[in-house]
Amino acid sequence: MFYSLARPLLLALDPETAHNLTLKLSGLAALLAARPPACPVRAMGLEFPNPVGMAAGLDKHAEHVDALAALGFGFLELGGVTPRPQPGNPRPRMFRIPEANAIINRYGLNSVGVDRFVENLKSAKSRTLIGVNIGKNKDTPNENAADDYEACLEKLYPHVQYVTLNVSSPNTEGLRDLQDAAPLASLLARIRRKNERLRDRHGRNVAIALKIAPDLDDQQIRAIADAARRERVDGIVATNTTVSRAGVEHYANGFQTGGLSGAPLRERSTHVLRILSQALRNEIPLIGVGGILSGADAAEKLDAGAALVQVYSGLVYRGPELVSECVSACLARSRTASSASR
Ligand SMILES: Cc1cc2nc3c(=O)[nH]c(=O)nc-3n(C[C@H](O)[C@H](O)[C@H](O)COP(=O)(O)O)c2cc1C
Repeated sequence: MFYSLARPLLLALDPETAHNLTLKLSGLAALLAARPPACPVRAMGLEFPNPVGMAAGLDKHAEHVDALAALGFGFLELGGVTPRPQPGNPRPRMFRIPEANAIINRYGLNSVGVDRFVENLKSAKSRTLIGVNIGKNKDTPNENAADDYEACLEKLYPHVQYVTLNVSSPNTEGLRDLQDAAPLASLLARIRRKNERLRDRHGRNVAIALKIAPDLDDQQIRAIADAARRERVDGIVATNTTVSRAGVEHYANGFQTGGLSGAPLRERSTHVLRILSQALRNEIPLIGVGGILSGADAAEKLDAGAALVQVYSGLVYRGPELVSECVSACLARSRTASSASR
C-alpha cells in the first residue's frame, strides 16, 4: 500500500537517487509492511527464521541494517565490500527498464572499504542473520585476489554469520575469470585454510558461500560444483546479474553496459540452479537469486533445488510486500510437501 503510493514518485527520479531515498524510507515502510509468517530453515549450519533474504548490492555499506531487518527478511546479504575504499564507476550507473521489470547496473563495486563497513555494522542493533558479500579492489590483480578476500574475511569474522565470495560481478574487469578452474581452486583452498585459522582464533564458525554468474555453460557450472565440493564450500549463490541482453534489447536503456537483473534473468538463473542441484544432490545448500518478482517465482527456485532465496530487483518493482508474499509461498510449498509425504 505504502509502496504503491510512493512508486510513481520513485520511478520518476534518477534510479540511484530513488534507490538511496527508498533505503532512507525503509524504516517507515517497515512499520506499514505486513510481517511475514515464520518459516524456519536450517542451511549452511545456520538457522534462518525464513528462507527469503535480501540480495547483495542493496545495502553496499551496511548503513541501513536495522530498517532492512524490520522488513521481515530471513537474512540480509550486505555489501559487496572491498578491502580498501573505491569509488566505483561514474554516474549514471543504474538504469531501470520498467517495461521488462528489469535493471541494468554498472556500479563497479563502489565501497567504503571494509574498516568503515565494520564500524557501520557494529552500530546496527538488530539481531538479524547477516551475510556479507566480499570482492577484490579494482586495482588488485587477479593473482593477488585471494589476499583481498582473506583481508575482508578476517575483519568481518566476529560480526557476521556467513561471507559470500563474489567472483561474478560483471562490472569489475577480469573478476569473473576467478570462476575458471585453476584460479577458483586456488582461491577456495586459500579461503578454506584461512577460515580454519580464524575459526580456531574466534571459537566460532563463519560459513563461506560462493556467488556465481549466470553466463556459464553447463560444463563450467558442473566444474564449479566439483571445486566447491572439494574445498567444502558451505553454500552457492546462483546467480549474479547477466551480460546477456535477451528480453530487453528493444527497450530504451536495454543497450546500457553492465549487469542485467530482474524478470529477464529468471529462467537463466533457475537453469543454473537446476544444474548445480543435479551435480551436488543436496551436498551444498543453494541460494537462488535472479528475477524473483512473486511468491510463485520464489517457489520455483525452491523447486529447482534452492534452500534459500534472495531478492533485489523485485523489491524495486513490487516493494517490500514482496518479502511476505515470498515467505507465504515458501510456507505453502513446504506444507504441501509435508502433507504429501505423510
Ligand atoms: C544495483 C545493483 C547492485 C548490485 N551489487 C551487487 C554486489 O555488490 N555484489 C553482488 O554479488 N551482487 C550484486 N548485485 C546482484 C544482486 O545481488 C542479484 O544477484 C541480481 O540482481 C539478481 O537478482 P534480482 O533479479 O532479484 O535483482 C547487484 C544488483 C543490482 C541491481
